[in-house]
Amino acid sequence: MKSSMILGVGHYVPDHVVTNHDLSQLMDTSHDWIVERTGIEERRHVVLGGGDTTASMGYRASLLALKNAGVSAEELDFIIFATLSPDYYFPGPGVQLQEMLAPDHTIGALDIRNQCSGFVYAISVADQFIRTGMYRRILVVGSELHSAGLDMTTRGRNVSVIFGDGAGAVVVGIAEEEGKEEGKEAGGTGLGMSKVLSTHLHSEGRHARELAVISPSTQHWVSHILKENNPNDESYYPYMNGNFVFKHAITRFAEVINEALRANGVSSGDLKLMIPHQANLRISQYIQQKMGLRDEQVYNNIMRYGNTTAASIPIALSEAVAEGRLQRGDLLMLAAFGSGFTWASALIRW
Ligand code: COA
Repeated sequence: MKSSMILGVGHYVPDHVVTNHDLSQLMDTSHDWIVERTGIEERRHVVLGGGDTTASMGYRASLLALKNAGVSAEELDFIIFATLSPDYYFPGPGVQLQEMLAPDHTIGALDIRNQCSGFVYAISVADQFIRTGMYRRILVVGSELHSAGLDMTTRGRNVSVIFGDGAGAVVVGIAEEEGKEEGKEAGGTGLGMSKVLSTHLHSEGRHARELAVISPSTQHWVSHILKENNPNDESYYPYMNGNFVFKHAITRFAEVINEALRANGVSSGDLKLMIPHQANLRISQYIQQKMGLRDEQVYNNIMRYGNTTAASIPIALSEAVAEGRLQRGDLLMLAAFGSGFTWASALIRW
């Protein structure tokens, strides 16, 4: 059986920084409340009309990941794009990215709809394609543009202060034989050797409406919305039962991390780094404590970017790699929980 490895990483966030103080001008909130409950100090928002979209941010992150991997767009076999905030209702942004990267290189593009777990689901799908020998090089992207769809009034404050915009990408390649460094061979930075050991995916649809955007949808189509013209209709803003989400998150994060550890016969002490989905700093800290992990074993950047859903793990991974936090042979845990509910983990030998 073949195995897959991460050949390169990259990320892109919009320049425009939105602080907690900026938000307190728009809604009844405060820097102290947001920091105390979420750990977030600032996030990035696109400037509407400035050219950044979910697809274009994914493209910018992808260019960096491809460069880092030493792989050209024409060498890719497949694209997997995870987002909950596509540019269009349909088609998904995978095909936009295909066009931006290499319009005549007509490889397949798959869109993943698993919200905060989307990137880990996408890594798992890429891993399966590579293990079976169907593809050799897959671009995996997580990108989100939340800011345009948030209720920036006091009514939406429990959700709007949390989410930010940005994108991250990785190139996943084939590890044909032990010791072969495909990234280096191709002139990359030598991230080769890393290997996806296992991935673990879960869902519990009974809680689908606890964190969701209900409209527009086939249940509440645009023509109805226009006809009703109801200014109090909140169904097209994200709804989140924050407390309920929090309680489920801390349970499921721990479960799925332990599942990956057990599947590979290792313990939390063996982890060099864990990158949890950046949902809320309090959630990460709770998991860290529950798993008995030291500060240097857990990577958090939610303070600077907020929760960027499918983009949060690849952005954090890209920053962790740039900071030299991972060396060859290190064990890396990715773990996520979010809307669906869905949750997932991946254990990677770097
Ligand atoms: N600023 C100030 N006050 C706010 C606020 C804000 N941005 N958002 C909510 N409040 C208020 C509420 O109105 C409520 O006021 P009340 O007591 O007068 O009714 C009070 O703060 C407490 O609200 P509550 O929702 O119970 O707070 P909380 O401690 O649960 O924190 C979250 C709210 C959203 C930070 C927290 O529930 C959370 O982080 N949940 C998980 C979210 C998450 O991770 N989502 C992504 C999953 S992928």
